This record gives sequence, C-alpha cells and structure tokens, in this order.
Amino acid sequence: MAIALEYTAGGDDAAGREQLFATIARDLLEKGYSINPCAMAPELAQSLLQKLHTMSERQFVPAGIGREQEQMLNTFVRTDKICWITGESDAGRQWLEWAASLQTFLNRRLLLGLFSFESHFAHYGAGDFYRRHCDAFKGGSNRVLSIVAYLNPGWLPGDGGELVIYPEGVPAGIKVTPALGTVAVFLSEDFEHEVLPARRDRFSIAGWYRVNSSSARRADPPL
Ligand code: OGA
Ligand code: MN
Repeated sequence: MAIALEYTAGGDDAAGREQLFATIARDLLEKGYSINPCAMAPELAQSLLQKLHTMSERQFVPAGIGREQEQMLNTFVRTDKICWITGESDAGRQWLEWAASLQTFLNRRLLLGLFSFESHFAHYGAGDFYRRHCDAFKGGSNRVLSIVAYLNPGWLPGDGGELVIYPEGVPAGIKVTPALGTVAVFLSEDFEHEVLPARRDRFSIAGWYRVNSSSARRADPPL
C-alpha cells in the first residue's frame, strides 16, 4: 500500500498508458530524451519489486562493456551487476509486454522501425557507479533507443545514484533521481550519460531497442 501512495499519475489503464507513450514520442521528437517520474503502473512496479525480492545476489553477474560478443569486464567504467530479463517469470513477462507495447507505439507514431528489445535488471550496491558513456556508436551498434526504469521506493536526495544525461550544450547534464516508477528514454547514439555513485542499494532495469541491420550479405540476428 505504501508504494501505491507514492503515485500521482501513470495508472495502468489503457488511456494512461497511451498518454505516457504519447509524451515519450513527443519528447523524443523535440529533444531526443524523455524523463517521466511515476510513469510505470503501480501494479507493474510492485510486481517487479517483488520479483527482485525473490532473487538472490548469485543471479546477478558483473556487467561488461562492449557488444555482447566482445564483452569485457572493466570495473574502472562500471561496477554494477546485472541479470538479463528473459520473460520466464510473470514480472519479467509483464515488463517485456509493456516494453513491446511502447515499441509498437513508437514505431507507429515516429516510424522508428524498432525491431528487437533486450533488457536486464541492474544492481548498484553502495559505492557502485557507471562512468560517462554512450550506449551506441554511430555506425557501430544497432541500439537506437535506450530505456531505464527505476525500482527504488523512498529514494532520498542524499542517496546519490542519479542518472545524468548530457545533451549537447548542457555541460552540467540533467539529473534523474532513480525513484520507483520513473522511466527515462533517450536516443542511444545521441546522449552520453553516467550513473553517479549510489550510497545504498539501487535497482533499475536498463533496456535497448535495436533496428534490424541484417542484410543479404550480413546476418545480424537479435540475441
Ligand atoms: C546502462 C545505463 C543507467 C541507469 O546500463 O547502460 O546507462 O541509470 N544505466 O541505470
Ligand atoms: Mn547506458
């Protein structure tokens, strides 16, 4: 119940969802990123939180950097641990369905041609960070849209762990508090970003939509 009280918007009804998706589409068109507090439906946030509670730390593995095939551990760049979401649990499936409905909406509204989606839970313990980076490189990866959803009830300003997005011409960046239900979306190639050191456990889901870059000469299947 305490969690439901934190919400002022973003109900699970179809109309609320459409409105959120429309806001994301407009923001992406106008500025390339979209930050939405209280965006995730309380039922979905609850179910993901409960899922996290049932998971053991052993299910999380140190995150790597680079394309999946060339994963490298680099604890100078990032120290979080991750667990890929496969859709085997109810909560995972609900999340993937939600992400798929956003994909369908954005493809219709912005003709983005998003083709596949991959996502993982991430756990940042106290002191963990992810230094300034880009999720895609022009001409390299086919990640076009990044999404991050936060799962931290009662996050306080002193808890750190903010996501900072750096639009061109905004050297100080834009800070996003990783509070329960907040959803941030941005064009993967266009925005460097970082995760400031967290001072307590911080949970998020990070996901990426890809376009299909297979061709007659080069097969590039999704994971
Ligand atoms: C990432 C990432 C941001 C966050 O996993 O690539 O930038 O706030 N995550 O968890
Ligand atoms: Mn990133």
